[in-house]
Amino acid sequence: MMSFTSKSIEFFGKNLVSCGCSSNASFDRNKVRNYGKVNSKGCGNGARKLICCKKKNTTQYRVSSMETAEPTLNGGAQAIKDLAKGLNLKSYSETPISPNRLFEVVSDDLQTLNKNLQSIVGAENPVLISAAEQIFSAGGKRMRPALVFLVSRATAELLGLEDITVKHRRLAEIIEMIHTASLIHDDVLDESDLRRGKETVHQMFGTRVAVLAGDFMFAQSSWYLANLENIEVIKLISQVIKDFASGEIKQASSLFDCDVQLDEYLIKSYYKTASLIAASTKGAAVFSGSDSNITEKMYEYGKNLGLSFQVVDDILDFTQSAEQLGKPAGTDLAKGNLTAPVIFALEKEPKLRDIIESEFSEIGSLDEAIALVKSCGGIERAQELAKEKADLAIQSIQCLPQSVYRLALEDMVTYNLQRIA
Ligand code: IPE
Ligand code: IPE
Ligand code: MG
Ligand code: MG
Repeated sequence: MMSFTSKSIEFFGKNLVSCGCSSNASFDRNKVRNYGKVNSKGCGNGARKLICCKKKNTTQYRVSSMETAEPTLNGGAQAIKDLAKGLNLKSYSETPISPNRLFEVVSDDLQTLNKNLQSIVGAENPVLISAAEQIFSAGGKRMRPALVFLVSRATAELLGLEDITVKHRRLAEIIEMIHTASLIHDDVLDESDLRRGKETVHQMFGTRVAVLAGDFMFAQSSWYLANLENIEVIKLISQVIKDFASGEIKQASSLFDCDVQLDEYLIKSYYKTASLIAASTKGAAVFSGSDSNITEKMYEYGKNLGLSFQVVDDILDFTQSAEQLGKPAGTDLAKGNLTAPVIFALEKEPKLRDIIESEFSEIGSLDEAIALVKSCGGIERAQELAKEKADLAIQSIQCLPQSVYRLALEDMVTYNLQRIA
């Protein structure tokens, strides 16, 4: 059995830009087969091949490298482990990836989604409409619906579908609605006053309205979900809504707890973040009619990307400003939410425990704790953890055909890591 581990070494969008062609209009997203013959050239290290795809009748190329190690019965597991170890941060593209370019191949889908989101929130109550508008119009990266579209198109292609379906589109809308509801509630719990660069819903309309608006959006998304009439997807996504609550409860009940272990942190992160992303990518594959092998791989991709994403978010809370993030910075530790950088730092620096357990009662002790987390390698070890999960995500999508969609899914993983590079 051949195992592929392909790493993009050049971002396709770069070719679009360098050819002076900034729109994706010239690329028929349903006809990725149009890419000409795949030429392989050995690049001297034995197992890695450069793959160069030329688009028919154009001068545009996409270059990627493909691992062609063939695990044997005896050496297979070891080969996969070596492969995973070998994927260090440097092996990810160093060309900065912007979110706009990243989602270029599904930009039309995202535009339609934005229009539809406004109409499906459609609450009867004017206060709820204003609350929903406040957060939807504030923007957001639309990463989850973009993932739905990318997996939908990649798996549709795999199964020979002409186009994605109305159900794929509705799934993307439901997912963004659920994500937005979770942000409204999360901001109430975190007492955050800024989200997507704007005032939070509870800050603007009060906690009662924020709780109700979040509930309303969860309920509304459940209604749309039920109308998709797919029991597998209904079970998958209703579990996610339950997971959010479990994640928030877990977090709230372990504040300032210096005995919290890395695996507990990862479980909480799965509940709060990875569960929804995994359901997005798996649900998309289900609606293409994929077999369980593919749907599970898509689930693994979403789960590991989600974990990597949360670890990166937790690092950024230490390293970036509120202006850069569009939400408050440096508040996780202040509020006692001990994330990956702190958990790693606690292993090295016993003094940190005393400061955290005192709940920063002494003036200057929070700054001291932040400095300790940074000086004893907490950030670097968290970076390694984010990369470990990223590598697993990349491995899971090697079952997809080489296409602009798979490349964008790989670039999504790289983009996330680049945020902390
Ligand atoms: C924020 O998610 C919550 C986390 C999982 C860290 P995003 O960073 O995707 O938020 P928006 O949608 O772009 O605002
Ligand atoms: C992210 O948790 C998951 C959610 C359910 C919102 P965070 O608490 O880290 O999210 P931010 O940092 O507030 O966006
Ligand atoms: Mg939060
Ligand atoms: Mg956060």
